[in-house]
Amino acid sequence: MYVVTGATGNTGRIVAETLLAKGKKVRAIGRTAERLQPLVKRGAEAFVGSVTAASAVLDGFQGAEAVYLLIPPDNVAENFRAYQTKVGKAYASAIRQARIPYVVNLSSVGAHLPEGAGPISGLYHVEQLLNQLEGTNIVHLRAAFFMENFSFSLELIRNQNINGSALKGDLSIPMIATRDIAQVAAQLLLSKEFSGQSTRELLGQRDLSMQEATQIIGKAIGKEGLPYVQFPYAQAEQAMVGMGMSQDVARSLSEMDQAMNEGRVRPLEKRSAANTTPTSFEQFAQGFAAAYQRQGGTKAKGV
Ligand SMILES: NC(=O)c1ccc[n+]([C@@H]2O[C@H](COP(=O)([O-])OP(=O)(O)OC[C@H]3O[C@@H](n4cnc5c(N)ncnc54)[C@H](OP(=O)(O)O)[C@@H]3O)[C@@H](O)[C@H]2O)c1
Repeated sequence: MYVVTGATGNTGRIVAETLLAKGKKVRAIGRTAERLQPLVKRGAEAFVGSVTAASAVLDGFQGAEAVYLLIPPDNVAENFRAYQTKVGKAYASAIRQARIPYVVNLSSVGAHLPEGAGPISGLYHVEQLLNQLEGTNIVHLRAAFFMENFSFSLELIRNQNINGSALKGDLSIPMIATRDIAQVAAQLLLSKEFSGQSTRELLGQRDLSMQEATQIIGKAIGKEGLPYVQFPYAQAEQAMVGMGMSQDVARSLSEMDQAMNEGRVRPLEKRSAANTTPTSFEQFAQGFAAAYQRQGGTKAKGV
């Protein structure tokens, strides 16, 4: 039995689908039966519960040979670090009690920074909590900036004909499609070819700047020359609160942007075949364009 957290989300859904396609038993965790239904149709067992409740997490993890872990975003958390720690502790305690031998944990590039990198520093502390587990083999996938983050700019692009954030326009960073993370996670869960505690960076197909990425998106949606604008941190925070985020989540994301701009959030590994994944930004932009044509985009940027 494989357990997948965040099973209706970007990475979890594809992890669950990949395992099911290989004929594996999957228990998919989410907060509503309704959203889990498509996975149930493919043969998954639905487990409805919140990962903030330690008892629910333990029930959900019982009998698992391996678990795919992630800390789901909570954009309205009053104290985002406390929220991450709560979920991390619930996971660690359930893994210990249910004696789960294999864990693949979604973390982030920059999770070597205990402080000063917003939600990414929270993931550092979650990694540390999980590393205290004895008898569990665990790999932390330190993924790069998600290409899917651009979907939070849909409205801005549609209404103001610009893309923008607090990130520097010419800062070249690794960007990854979430499906590529899911493929690596699923392969690791299937092969179980990892032991002890390790980290593995996933850096996408290549590094890109926000300006380059915005140009590719502009071309794909028929807005050639779409400009990228760097917003001041305070303005970006205000906009995030305006989209429905708590002050603390907005502050935390702003801290992360600053840490990226200052080069503190950066890969520790050199780019190699092992940390490079296939999906290009141009391929991602095709899917983005399809979503852009379908809807206006109302989701707020998440952490
Ligand atoms: N964005 C980036 O650039 C980036 C980079 C590196 C790492 N990361 C990390 O990636 C992780 C997010 O991964 P993802 O994008 O695959 O996730 P996601 O798409 O945001 O999905 C998370 C899923 O978790 C479920 N969920 C939310 N709150 C829950 C709760 N309290 N209890 C149980 N389930 C809950 C939701 O499903 P239901 O609504 O169905 O419950 C949601 O579909 C975060 O930890 C983030 O820090 C992000």
